[in-house]
Amino acid sequence: MKVFFKVCFFVSLLSSSAITYAQQLNWTLVEPGIWKAVAGKPDAFDLLKTAGAVPYHAGLLEMGDVVFPVAKADISAAIVDGKTYLRFPLEKNEQLYGFGLNFQTVHQRGKILTLHVDNYAGKDDGHTHCPTPFYVSSKGYGVFINSARYIKVYAGTSVRVDSKAAPLIQDRNLDKNWTSHPYSDAVDMLIPADGAEIYIFGGPTTMDAVRRYNLLNGGGCLPPRWGLGFTQRMQRLTDANGVAEEAKAFEDKGYPLDFIGLEPGWQSKSYPCTFEWDKTRFPDPKGLVQNMLHKGIRINLWTNPYVSPQAPVYPLIKSYTSSHTVWNGAVVDLSLPAARKIFFGELEKNKVDIGISGYKMDEVDGGDTYLWPDVAIFPSGHSAEQLRQTYGLMMQRYITELYHNRNQRTYGLVRASNGGGSALPYVIYNDYYNHQDFITALINSGFSGVLWTPEVRASKTAEEWVRRFQSNIFSPMAMINAWSSGTKPWTFPEVADQVKQLANLRMQMMPYWYSEFAKYHYQGIPPFRAMNLEPGFQGVEVAKEPGKKKVDLEENPYEDITAKEVKDQYMAGENILVAPMFTGQTTRTVILPKGKWYDFYTGKLAGDGQVITVTPGLDKIPVYVKDGGIIPMMPAMLHAPKAGDKVAIEVRYYGEKSGTYRLYDDDGETFNYEKGQYSFRDIKVQRLNGSIKGSISDAVAGKPNTIGKVTFKMMTE
Ligand code: GAL
Repeated sequence: MKVFFKVCFFVSLLSSSAITYAQQLNWTLVEPGIWKAVAGKPDAFDLLKTAGAVPYHAGLLEMGDVVFPVAKADISAAIVDGKTYLRFPLEKNEQLYGFGLNFQTVHQRGKILTLHVDNYAGKDDGHTHCPTPFYVSSKGYGVFINSARYIKVYAGTSVRVDSKAAPLIQDRNLDKNWTSHPYSDAVDMLIPADGAEIYIFGGPTTMDAVRRYNLLNGGGCLPPRWGLGFTQRMQRLTDANGVAEEAKAFEDKGYPLDFIGLEPGWQSKSYPCTFEWDKTRFPDPKGLVQNMLHKGIRINLWTNPYVSPQAPVYPLIKSYTSSHTVWNGAVVDLSLPAARKIFFGELEKNKVDIGISGYKMDEVDGGDTYLWPDVAIFPSGHSAEQLRQTYGLMMQRYITELYHNRNQRTYGLVRASNGGGSALPYVIYNDYYNHQDFITALINSGFSGVLWTPEVRASKTAEEWVRRFQSNIFSPMAMINAWSSGTKPWTFPEVADQVKQLANLRMQMMPYWYSEFAKYHYQGIPPFRAMNLEPGFQGVEVAKEPGKKKVDLEENPYEDITAKEVKDQYMAGENILVAPMFTGQTTRTVILPKGKWYDFYTGKLAGDGQVITVTPGLDKIPVYVKDGGIIPMMPAMLHAPKAGDKVAIEVRYYGEKSGTYRLYDDDGETFNYEKGQYSFRDIKVQRLNGSIKGSISDAVAGKPNTIGKVTFKMMTE
């Protein structure tokens, strides 16, 4: 085995007999609270560059400096056999979160994962739509590997002979403390490249480390206001008349609708794709798109990137495609600027330039049986692996650029992303459709710098329909994806009213959602996230479940501690806790962190640092608001307010404590906020002898002002 010592390392021989490849790294402060080190010779093609990530320096500056969060001596790197070995410390009572968009587990300690962009296949093994090589620790720091490779992770499973905290040798037969998983003091990673860039994020809290990661990526995305309304994706063979009828039905029935998604049938052929309108179904695309825009409804287009030999763009792009096809379509090497010019030019022409609001970029994730194999050759010389890890990122980045050039925001869907992508305005989805696991993915999205929608497609029963709808409206994209089923919000007449009320609630909460996304952008705070990031959660969590499984020598002889997981409730924005109900459930427990929590609908005290049991009925998804929590609401409009509209705000206030809230405002549609055209208005509410006194700071002169009359509502009597 060859061992390469790199000049930039301190070579530290651990002991004369020990393995000699562990080397300490040189850390450079790159932003406040963020350090970088280089191991070996990293690939020039990495995640941050591919995503086009530019740190949001002002946000990081505001967070301030902190000390390096772990012992530097405990982080080491080695290059062995052309691969990079990394090792990070892990204390006994430390928990790990992240490693991408996992669907079944929040805690990652004890996992062995291969971080690989893929279609999620039912197992949290690292193969997922967004396998971000980023993790945070309950000790308040984070680690990111800026590599577009399939990274192998041993998250606290490996025990070294020279461990400083070597586990005790115990006799399995007689010692009841014997464990099949002795304490591992490290997170080990293997990167199949002869170098990597490593980032460490300081805290002091776990949330701070998450925020610093998002801010390094440029801050979270800020969708247009309309992106936070309601979207309906239509049955795949819908035509222009069908679109017009759908929009009319929504309006006649009084259901909100901000954008309609067209699925594969808008193209003349798909799988592989032609990227041209089907002339029979859509004889006048521009007329349709403009007509819809006039009504306040936008159109989003599905596509996958695989180019049909019958596509008009094919002869131009052919020489920039890979050795292997996907569904008989050519795979464009998006890492080549010349290829991008042609390909994204095609997505712009007669689409973006006639008023299409965005794309849903499908099938850029996997699985292996249909995507290009790892032996595919790309003309740039980048490997199939590197393209696989970054294809979704590049699709998002360059489509967003088309819109940025027009000073127009977009918000769309994508099936793959990766590290570096927090600022890209896309929401991940898939075909997996397990409601419970969809919620766990929503929780994990907050650790991965991405957004996830638990989309609603079809349901077997009215109950399932409502339950799915309820959690969907408390997510980054409220949508029905009827590409196959043709479902509508009113598909189950017996619950059509409940569904309408939920869709209206989504619209009413738009000022809250928009402000929370602004905090994602300017402060890096994920709008949807795990309870584990919530102060006052630790400790109460323990009360819910015991942590040990019983070992049976026949059934599970090496079973060990199972982590306590809370994967069925989450935080939505600053003040709201959401506890979804699943089909068949009439009752559930909810963990309320320490501090008083109030029922969202009634304002009544629900509990304080305890596990409560609730029986909400089919109409309600359990939602709780923090003490002093403020939720700014607007009237239930059918479409999001347009730039320049003035909207009345009802400030709902919960609990006893005085409350403050930063209400974000800008034009909601352009990138002028990047040039300072935005404001945060301070809302304050306090109780005074049985009534409340509320105020909002004045509009800032010279900035967009969409806020009309402001009223205050005391929710807690
Ligand atoms: C799937 C996608 C669906 C739908 C369909 C169209 O891959 O997940 O949402 O778009 O393709 O063929």
